[in-house]
Amino acid sequence: MALRLGDEVPDFTADTTQGQINFWEWLGGDWGILFSHPADFTPVCTTELGEVARLQPEFQKRHTKVIGLSVDPVDSHNQWVGDIAETQGHALNYPLIGDPDRRIANLYGMIHPNASDTFTVRSVFVIGPDKKLKLELTYPASVGRNFAEILRVLDSLQLGAAHPIATPVNWQPGDDVIVGLSVSNEEAEKRFPKGVRIIKPYLRTTPQPG
Ligand code: BEZ
Repeated sequence: MALRLGDEVPDFTADTTQGQINFWEWLGGDWGILFSHPADFTPVCTTELGEVARLQPEFQKRHTKVIGLSVDPVDSHNQWVGDIAETQGHALNYPLIGDPDRRIANLYGMIHPNASDTFTVRSVFVIGPDKKLKLELTYPASVGRNFAEILRVLDSLQLGAAHPIATPVNWQPGDDVIVGLSVSNEEAEKRFPKGVRIIKPYLRTTPQPG
């Protein structure tokens, strides 16, 4: 059955470009991003993997470990990584799982047979320190993902984990946030000393806390 938000994500042990990894152990108490790409030596994937390498300091700042996966074996990944560094200017600095028997791809529902029964789609799983699924994105093979959006989502999720807030449409870090529906007006005044703006009883905003 497909993974749903709030589910504990499956653990696994796999070969990667950084040796064998046990997923849960490797995550430790950090946030995690597991993302699949359809195949090695393909153009969109080459650009994505280079971009994630460039953004690695941003993920580290957010205590988030990133790990990629494709159904090609690690030997193939190792032959390809030189091209990523050469063409994208950023060498792979995170592990890439080899999954030739599709064990992990199937465990996470990354193969969508009506799109392709051979390759994974472009899945993104954002996993909290509690090992629960916080967000899933699915893109087709032909559309490269926007990793700036994935960082934005991570910022929203992490802020929401620390404070009873939600973030509005097109929110960017530093913008006002929405006071959670479960927080009374009285409690909101205490929790958000920068001030609470009541636009409607159900729509209250406050400057970003923290
Ligand atoms: C790509 O990364 O460019 C790609 C991979 C598989 C199918 C289509 C495009």
